[in-house]
Amino acid sequence: MKPQSLVLILDFGSQYTQLIARRVRELEVYSEIHPCTIGLDRIRELEPKAVILSGGPSSVYDDGAPQVDPQVFSLGVPVLGICYGMQLMAHALGGRVEPADSREYGPAEILVSDPGALFAGLNEDRLAVWMSHGDRLKAPPAGFTTMAASGNSPFAAMGDPDRKLYGVQFHPEVAHTPKGGEILANFLFKIAGLTPDWTMAGFIDRTVADVRARVGSDRVICGLSGGVDSTVTAVLLHKALGHQLTCIFVDNGLLRKNEADDVVRLFHERYHIPLVHAQAGSGFLEKLKGITEPEQKRKIIGHEFIRVFEAEAKSLGEVKYLAQGTLYPDVIESVSFKGPSATIKTHHNVGGLPETMKMALIEPLRELFKDEVRRVGEELGLPEDLVWRQPFPGPGLAVRILGEITPERLAVLREADAIVRQEIRAAGLHRQVWQYFAVLLPVRSVGVMGDQRTYEHVAAIRVVDSRDAMTADWSRVPYDVLAVISNRIINEVKGINRVVYDISSKPPATIEWE
Ligand code: XMP
Repeated sequence: MKPQSLVLILDFGSQYTQLIARRVRELEVYSEIHPCTIGLDRIRELEPKAVILSGGPSSVYDDGAPQVDPQVFSLGVPVLGICYGMQLMAHALGGRVEPADSREYGPAEILVSDPGALFAGLNEDRLAVWMSHGDRLKAPPAGFTTMAASGNSPFAAMGDPDRKLYGVQFHPEVAHTPKGGEILANFLFKIAGLTPDWTMAGFIDRTVADVRARVGSDRVICGLSGGVDSTVTAVLLHKALGHQLTCIFVDNGLLRKNEADDVVRLFHERYHIPLVHAQAGSGFLEKLKGITEPEQKRKIIGHEFIRVFEAEAKSLGEVKYLAQGTLYPDVIESVSFKGPSATIKTHHNVGGLPETMKMALIEPLRELFKDEVRRVGEELGLPEDLVWRQPFPGPGLAVRILGEITPERLAVLREADAIVRQEIRAAGLHRQVWQYFAVLLPVRSVGVMGDQRTYEHVAAIRVVDSRDAMTADWSRVPYDVLAVISNRIINEVKGINRVVYDISSKPPATIEWE
């Protein structure tokens, strides 16, 4: 069961397509991204209340340029074309598109000539916008008028109010278009007449009802990692199914300090959710003995995880459903149009269980973006530090110990990492930066402590700023905070006598060291 108003976003391969969907949802209107190749029948079936055509890297004149069925413009549903989407709209309806004299890329200013419709209520005739295009509109189709111009594009926005068809050459969905949210809101509410009805409370109610109807009195297993996605999945399903849900938490012994205890306590004491805590750490460490090569470590951890999970699941007897915390970006990635639009990278995670398990999948979060999952978590009353937990890799501290993983080295890294977490939080930086952690290096260096010469390990501190982990920059953490971290680690963690700060950005470095 979906909310009343669906906005259909047709993806032509823009890197910003996901942003369009997120902006629309922030306005409390449900949106879905579909590849531009879906047919008209499917579009009709979805019954969208409005359609947005994304941008894309092509020119409408390219061989094989992605197209849209022109009938989309006669469905009687308002359509907004963005960048390539606008050019395609113009091209399909008889307007003319041509290569611009110079490409417009980056910040630009538009002069609004029609202060109604898309620009209603903005009360400004000059707007800062973000442009990214090579082609431009030479002549709009019959019925359209220009609504804004930029230095390079006489038709930076166009519209046909009778048919409710609009186009903008710039990108209202990006943060560099400060009034972009209001422009999209005008399209959704003033032009398409939609009502905001996409809220997380509504999502929870609907999901609970759907899951109950689907599962009936059967049983469900949910794999827990301690991360926000699997925890929200479990708590949501528990709300729907009570004791029909059992969670399996494979404790691989590679978690951070106190992490396993926190998960177990949260589930047992706070939620009373049946939880199997598989304390499998010694098996993982046994298999990792002597292994230093990163890919091999990952493979071993992945296989062992599946083996343990399957054995635990089997011991629970007949269970029909397996729940996973799949999110919308993973769903889009699998159907996306050629696209760079799906940006989230998949790794080995709790989700990656083998098909041989022969259980039907339940993925209650598959419509949600990460920020929406966090809001659902808040709505469900999950603790703040869990809801805002930083991303943590499935293979855990294994990717942060370079060289061999031993119980001793794990213990050293855990202590150092706990200090980094405490101090970043104490400095109030934990919600600003993307990730913050310690890495244990496979080198020793000489130091002096008291009158003693030491020969101990080096820890690297990694703190990065990022929006989606695809690119990242090292955080400019104040020296004073770094000083406290370094002093505390060297004084409190036996086995480390030197701390360095990683100042590499991604690319070319990665966030994890492996
Ligand atoms: P890299 O090191 O590739 O990491 O720049 C990008 C992001 O992915 C996280 N990461 C993982 N997440 N399972 C995960 O769920 C994994 O195996 C894994 N490996 C890396 C990393 O922490 C960063 O946020």
